Amino acid sequence: MSSDNIWTHKGTFLLAAVGSAVGLGNLWRFPYLAGEHGGGAFLLVYVLCVFAVGIPILIAEIMLGRNSRRCPIMGMRFLTRCHRTSRAWETIGWLGGLSALLILSFYSVISGWALHYLGEMLTGSLRDADAAMLADNFANLIASPLKLTLYHTLFLAICAYIVARGVHRGLESALRILMPTLLVILLVVLFYAATSGDMAAASRFMLSFSLSELSLEGWLEAMGQSFFTLSLGMGAIMAYGAYMPSETSLTLTAFAIALIDTLVAVIAGLAIFALVFGAGLAADEGPGLMFVSLPLAFSVMPSGSLVGAIFFVLVLGAAISSAISLIEPVAAYLVERFDLSRVLAVALVSVLAWGLGLATVASFNVWAEASPVHDVFGRSAFAVLELVTHITLPLCGLLVALFAGWSLTQSESMKEMHTRSSWLRLWRFLVRFIAPTGVAFVFLRALPYVQG
Ligand code: PHE
Ligand code: NA
Repeated sequence: MSSDNIWTHKGTFLLAAVGSAVGLGNLWRFPYLAGEHGGGAFLLVYVLCVFAVGIPILIAEIMLGRNSRRCPIMGMRFLTRCHRTSRAWETIGWLGGLSALLILSFYSVISGWALHYLGEMLTGSLRDADAAMLADNFANLIASPLKLTLYHTLFLAICAYIVARGVHRGLESALRILMPTLLVILLVVLFYAATSGDMAAASRFMLSFSLSELSLEGWLEAMGQSFFTLSLGMGAIMAYGAYMPSETSLTLTAFAIALIDTLVAVIAGLAIFALVFGAGLAADEGPGLMFVSLPLAFSVMPSGSLVGAIFFVLVLGAAISSAISLIEPVAAYLVERFDLSRVLAVALVSVLAWGLGLATVASFNVWAEASPVHDVFGRSAFAVLELVTHITLPLCGLLVALFAGWSLTQSESMKEMHTRSSWLRLWRFLVRFIAPTGVAFVFLRALPYVQG
């Protein structure tokens, strides 16, 4: 493992981890989940999950990465040797890699939708469109395997190019430009939403709740979302952690990641709902919130096309900085294990994810309903991928918590966390007992799928 793969600055890990964390999960998934599960009630349970389960596991993942200084698979192999424990823990690396590939494959297809809407905003073709036209536009997009594949290919190619250029010239330099730009755009969109939209209604929706709205389903979704949004259970954070300088504070960094990620989700939620409510639309649109309701809101608002274009640049930038963190752990494995060149490794990972992505593409059209594949799975490929992520992510997170909590000794954790013993003890308690219990709970989410 070459030591030149260490982030150049103390703060670069934070930049990279925030880049990974902030993505479609914040801008697309969080707002529609909040919309479906009662707004403020969902936000509350989500924040609880992030603190009780997300942050302890986040710390554990960074710790395993930095302690092994290897990609997740080779890193777990190394750690099990050091601790003379079962090689079964390597499952963490394999599960993470598998989830990374699967998520990357559909993440890229969804990001492709943002490319489409960026184009529509730039050409102004949705100017003054009505609800029916926007619904049609979206339906036509997902009905076209050709268009979806084209956007999917373009998106993955951009990400692959960045990762192929290496940790410093690729990841670091891209993130240094992307992340500040995204912050500025987010503030512009928030300002626009506050001035043109109905921010009062949006805050009422997002920040207040009644206890009766706290459903079991909402809890389960919140727990799953806290994994997805913090990029946990996929080896992404572990891989980035391997490049983190030893003196950077693990605890502060983990809290900063969680805080920024949550803030972005809340700001995005407020801005999107302000625009959607301002245009007189409803909140509970589901996955179409960003791709149907929001463009509709933009189409009726002053300078809507321009701000809409800027907004979809934000979505794309956030998606790119997340997708590259999904390519990295798998590519790093190929480099470390088989001594492949980085370019070849990245090409292999991307082609694999691209191929898998075709299943997502097909699930919206050729495979939708009444096809042999649909009958085999009983649902579309898109949903199958979601199901896999509802099982493999939490499972990987569970194993990470158990390994870090029970196999690493107190003094090893202290060395990584260089911290006061009371916080260390609290973290160990959370990661040994609370996080595993919380995660076990998420598996309930998967039960309805398994039973069909
Ligand atoms: N955290 C990202 C998001 O919220 C998704 C992601 C998961 C990215 C895992 C990379 C790794 O969109
Ligand atoms: Na996120």
